[in-house]
Amino acid sequence: MNKLLKRFKEVTSPVLGRYFPDFEIKSAKGCYLTATDGKKYLDFSSGIATTVVGHCHPKVVAAAVAQVKKLIHICIGVAIYEPYVKLCEELRKIVPIKDAQPFLCQSGSEAVESAIKLAKYTTKKPGIICFKGCFHGRTLGALSLTTSKMKYRDGYEPLLPEVYVLDWDLAEVEETICEHDIAGVIIEPILGEGGYIEAPAKVLKGLRRLCTKYKVLLIFDEVQTCFGHTGNWFASQALEITPDILTMAKGLASGFPLGACVASSEIMKKWSVGSHGGTYGGNPVCCAASIATIEVIKKEKLLKNTQKLGAYLKKKLIGLKGEFPIIKEVRGMGLMLGVDFKDSAVVKKILTYCLKKQLVLISTGADGTVIRFVPALNVHKKQIDTALSIFAEALKHV
Ligand SMILES: Cc1ncc(COP(=O)(O)O)c(C=O)c1O
Repeated sequence: MNKLLKRFKEVTSPVLGRYFPDFEIKSAKGCYLTATDGKKYLDFSSGIATTVVGHCHPKVVAAAVAQVKKLIHICIGVAIYEPYVKLCEELRKIVPIKDAQPFLCQSGSEAVESAIKLAKYTTKKPGIICFKGCFHGRTLGALSLTTSKMKYRDGYEPLLPEVYVLDWDLAEVEETICEHDIAGVIIEPILGEGGYIEAPAKVLKGLRRLCTKYKVLLIFDEVQTCFGHTGNWFASQALEITPDILTMAKGLASGFPLGACVASSEIMKKWSVGSHGGTYGGNPVCCAASIATIEVIKKEKLLKNTQKLGAYLKKKLIGLKGEFPIIKEVRGMGLMLGVDFKDSAVVKKILTYCLKKQLVLISTGADGTVIRFVPALNVHKKQIDTALSIFAEALKHV
């Protein structure tokens, strides 16, 4: 066993799940990771859909370093500072919600916790509707809405009361809203950990209609889809559906821990001062990294690149499906694509083979039967071709 792995096993909690038993890296740049043995890996996992402008983008690094030298932390409750305000100004320009007022936090789970609390507090109702197969995080509130893998919940019940986990069935949603006091309906427009499955547009549009009709808040959890992976800043924009509350994290700050729960000022003004908050939310360095990430996506026209190269990659993957019947389905939008094998053993073999050939791909889905392709938005066509050729080689070997 190599030294780092040995030390890791001795000193860290065994609770941490990992995709690969012994993959160690020391640095990363753009779409590449450098392992401790010096080998370079093409990274199509992006730290689980997070490093949207590539690893250590020079503009993100420069912004973070400059901020570290000025102010690392004060807590927004103690004093207001430029990066927090500037990031909220920038987010208001790109989110689908009008007159948006972001609440900044540290992670996806915390963004979801904030959304649950905002919905409950402002509607004065207790119930939340969520959907089977979705992943919303692992803190206890967010976990109460998570069913992508039931092992996440095992040993933690009872969870939050008044949570209704439903199928994508509008009649069932309407019945539940009519029978219970429902504050909000939360859904991932594209299931991330659930297997890169797009929620049907008909269901999403129906939810919008029902939520408006019954004055229930529609929450889109865009923690994984946010910041461009679908070829739009947010999946909701591609779908042309405006949620009342939007949660985001992951790509928001290119790997710095930052989350946001966004709603209109109309909703936010009902959240009383001090009824929610936190020490680190909207940390200055994370905000500076996020502002730089937005600038890079705009300047380098990365949404266009994602649409173009995403279509190219999807077409090639569909081509491979024609060649290799072990591929059962190719799906997804932009550079957030899933290849479903409906077989976790096959997926494991392919991922191991790809890693050996220095391509990092990771699985998703309830049983890990899907391989996800989520490279950075500034990936090059040549890098996609390299990934495809390793992936195709792997398909031949299983
Ligand atoms: C849609 C969605 N919501 C929430 C989360 C939780 O985010 P975090 O791991 O930052 O707590 C995730 C993480 O994968 C996610 O994909």
